[in-house]
Amino acid sequence: MVEGLSIKPAQGKLGILTPGMGAVATTFIAGVEAVRRGLRLPIGSLTQMGHIRLGKRTDNRQPLIRNFVPLAGLDDLVFGGWDIFEDSAYEAALKAGVLDRTLIEELQGFLTGIRPMKAVFDNYYVKKLDGKHVKKGRSKMALAEALIEDIEGFRKTNGCDRVVMIWCGSTEIFMKRSEVHETLAAFEKGLRDSHPEIAPSMIYAYAAARSGIAYANGAPNLSGDLPAIEELAKRTGAPLAGKDFKTGQTLMKTILAPGFKARLLGVAGWYSTNILGNRDGEVLDDPESFKTKEESKLGVLDNILQPQLYPDLYGHLFHKVRINYYPPRGDNKEGWDNIDIFGWLGYPMQIKVDFLCRDSILAAPIVLDLVLFMDLAKRAGLAGIQEWLSFYFKSPVVPAGLYPEHDLFIQHTKLKNTLRWMMGEDMITHLGREYYDES
Ligand SMILES: NC(=O)c1ccc[n+]([C@@H]2O[C@H](COP(=O)([O-])OP(=O)(O)OC[C@H]3O[C@@H](n4cnc5c(N)ncnc54)[C@H](O)[C@@H]3O)[C@@H](O)[C@H]2O)c1
Repeated sequence: MVEGLSIKPAQGKLGILTPGMGAVATTFIAGVEAVRRGLRLPIGSLTQMGHIRLGKRTDNRQPLIRNFVPLAGLDDLVFGGWDIFEDSAYEAALKAGVLDRTLIEELQGFLTGIRPMKAVFDNYYVKKLDGKHVKKGRSKMALAEALIEDIEGFRKTNGCDRVVMIWCGSTEIFMKRSEVHETLAAFEKGLRDSHPEIAPSMIYAYAAARSGIAYANGAPNLSGDLPAIEELAKRTGAPLAGKDFKTGQTLMKTILAPGFKARLLGVAGWYSTNILGNRDGEVLDDPESFKTKEESKLGVLDNILQPQLYPDLYGHLFHKVRINYYPPRGDNKEGWDNIDIFGWLGYPMQIKVDFLCRDSILAAPIVLDLVLFMDLAKRAGLAGIQEWLSFYFKSPVVPAGLYPEHDLFIQHTKLKNTLRWMMGEDMITHLGREYYDES
């Protein structure tokens, strides 16, 4: 272990609370139970199936990540959350239509026992939804206090040693940071005054940070990505991460774009369109929620391709992203990409990608890895923004003055090097001179 860093052991139960118990959350919860019962494999999860190389290539040390760093075991996970609908995880999983009915029926007893608590919600921030399972409070501060009580109540009732919160709720309308988000004092005053620029997802992030528990955000709305929340999290020792799970089309983009850039192939245009028919698709059909998603999806290419450094290759890139709500597809999204590239002497070429993906199947292992790594960060005393987890996000949260790293492979190296650093192992630079030096 690195000097000065001590990691508390992962003893006892780890509670996982999800604001939002829809397609992603229930696919994650049911999936963990299916893995625990030996019914399925946790495919896509780095913490469960990934190995990490330690030392030289000739050392032959490649343990499983879960045997290398002290992570909570799957048997120690306990689930809960909030939603604006009263459906249990069983009913919600059936409605989401992601997993086979036979698998959901097999897990019925377990899933029926997971019932959402009343949510903090306001239809102003998610126009397409309206639910009745919602808390009432005199002010936004009163609602935050009610969430803090929920967290403590869940911890006690389930005998949890630690708790992690991860936003799996709907995408809220587009909002920019303003004065009320800048300092903790301004934010707390804003909560007491029920300031309109404090959205429900920010109230959850505040409640998590006040409780000193880790908070990750799987949607593109600001939520915990505020200086005020960072200030509080550092004070209470709460790790923070976000935003927007990197799945589907953006995952493909962050795999392909670094390849073009590495080979100095030009990109003239990148047109991306999607059809999807789940509740998330319906919410994103509202222009204000779509705007939040669009910003998150658009930032990726600019950052990877660096047009300011390579104006001849990427200076005139036309990038367009569309999402179309198309109910017959349900959760099985189709993402098309048309990429106009150019090579030697400017000769044009085209690449077409048609990804028939399953959104929540791609998101569930990310949720699992995030909760386990966020819990590790908490036990290691790492408070505030956890940039090493940007591997999992479309819009990685970074401190002021730093640009986010979007290249999936750099993010992957960063994550693994952080684990090596935590455990006092050598960084792997891939220089490899030692294999050729005579002495
Ligand atoms: N599936 C993916 O691959 C993926 C990728 C990136 C981001 N996301 C984001 O993850 C989130 C969840 O996606 P999903 O497919 O599960 O959507 P979903 O619509 O199936 O589930 C979201 C749930 O959140 C609930 N909700 C909304 N506001 C809430 C609030 N304030 N408090 C508590 N509950 C609330 C809704 O009632 C709904 O049940 C969305 O914001 C989506 O954009 C998903």
